[in-house]
Amino acid sequence: MASYNEFVRFILFYGFLIFATSVVGKRKVPCYFIFGDSLVDNGNNNHLVTFAKATYLPHGIDFSSGPTGRFCNGRNFADFMAEHLGFTGHIPPFAFSNGSNILFGLNYASAAAGIRSETGHHLGDRITFDQQLQNHELTVLSISDTLGGSDLASAYLQKCFYHIGFGSNDYLNNYFITAVYDTSSMYTVEEFTKLLIQQYRSQILKLYNYGARRVALQGLGPIGCTPYEMARHSSNESCVEYINTAIQLFNHGLKLLIDELNNNTSLQDAKFTYLNLYEMGMEFIKHPSSFGFKVANSACCGTGLNNGALTCLPFEVPCRNRNEYLFWDAYHTTEAANKIAARRTYLKVNQLDAYPFDIHHLVQL
Ligand SMILES: *[C@@H]1O[C@H](CO)[C@@H](O)[C@H](O)[C@H]1NC(C)=O
Ligand SMILES: *[C@@H]1O[C@H](CO)[C@@H](O)[C@H](O)[C@H]1NC(C)=O
Ligand SMILES: *[C@@H]1O[C@H](CO)[C@@H](O)[C@H](O)[C@H]1NC(C)=O
Ligand SMILES: *[C@@H]1O[C@H](CO)[C@@H](O)[C@H](O)[C@H]1NC(C)=O
Repeated sequence: MASYNEFVRFILFYGFLIFATSVVGKRKVPCYFIFGDSLVDNGNNNHLVTFAKATYLPHGIDFSSGPTGRFCNGRNFADFMAEHLGFTGHIPPFAFSNGSNILFGLNYASAAAGIRSETGHHLGDRITFDQQLQNHELTVLSISDTLGGSDLASAYLQKCFYHIGFGSNDYLNNYFITAVYDTSSMYTVEEFTKLLIQQYRSQILKLYNYGARRVALQGLGPIGCTPYEMARHSSNESCVEYINTAIQLFNHGLKLLIDELNNNTSLQDAKFTYLNLYEMGMEFIKHPSSFGFKVANSACCGTGLNNGALTCLPFEVPCRNRNEYLFWDAYHTTEAANKIAARRTYLKVNQLDAYPFDIHHLVQL
């Protein structure tokens, strides 16, 4: 039996290597793992009991295979990143993965999920960052099985690229929903942010222990400027400042965390970087026409003030000129915006776009 198993393993491993070098030989990394929320979810919530789902049209109206669970008209930020990294297909969602594709990486992201476990619970089930890490542990075990041991698996996993994006829901669907969550009565926004960063640090160290060595952390975008927050605060023109102030506090803490991790001598073989979606988002909002946008304060799909009071509903008719909108629905950006954000964090256009490395540079270190 042992020799049969070894034979199967041999075939799987070398078959994979041949496939990897012939079909997708131009990839910058052999594998890409994604952890996060609805900004990068590509179907992990489809079978969960939750309001945070995008399994219906017009989501996916511009996507090759229609609605998939992506909260977007087309491709999301991670889809474009995979293209920049040279992957020819999309990274599959963990929920629909099978043994044959996990070696290229997986997407664990789940809409409404946060750093904190209670975040998003009023919307229904979601896969929190802690649970996404548990799912990754299963993947690590399965890769050990396929490659024939944990040493081979860790050598392999160290070459992968890891992309993490959490925090938005910890504010949007926790701290600032005072009727449901008590965090704002327990903590000042400074205390809450400090706790979030502390918890994030230990979660990231866990991922390091599973072999992650090239890690990008997505900063939060200007959530105070989303159609949802503007509608909630009856503002159709200016962004909601107190929300953006909290977001910037988190981003500042995250950059300090990146410095600390990059300086930590016991993590010498790892490199971390910060993707600056905040400044980029503000540029889009302040100078929309420089990026080809005509509408930056209202959603392409949705109803109410700025189309932000109610998010995109099943079979609602969206705007037609989707490339001219910054926001797809009340919370999420369009494919057009995702494309620019991924390009500029992959290869930075100005110093602020990614700190200290852009992804192109990070994966070569
Ligand atoms: C595994 O998933 C891929 C899509 O990601 C699919 O093309 C393939 O047929 C699946 N294989 C099995 C054995 O289910
Ligand atoms: C904002 O709303 C006011 C009143 O409803 C309206 O007069 C104004 O044109 C709106 N501004 C924009 C930019 O939509
Ligand atoms: C980490 O190192 C950078 C230079 O690489 C330095 O500017 C920064 O102050 C250090 N941060 C910490 C938290 O030690
Ligand atoms: C450095 O990383 C280790 C984990 O390997 C961690 O236990 C330690 O707290 C970190 N040190 C600092 C100063 O952050």
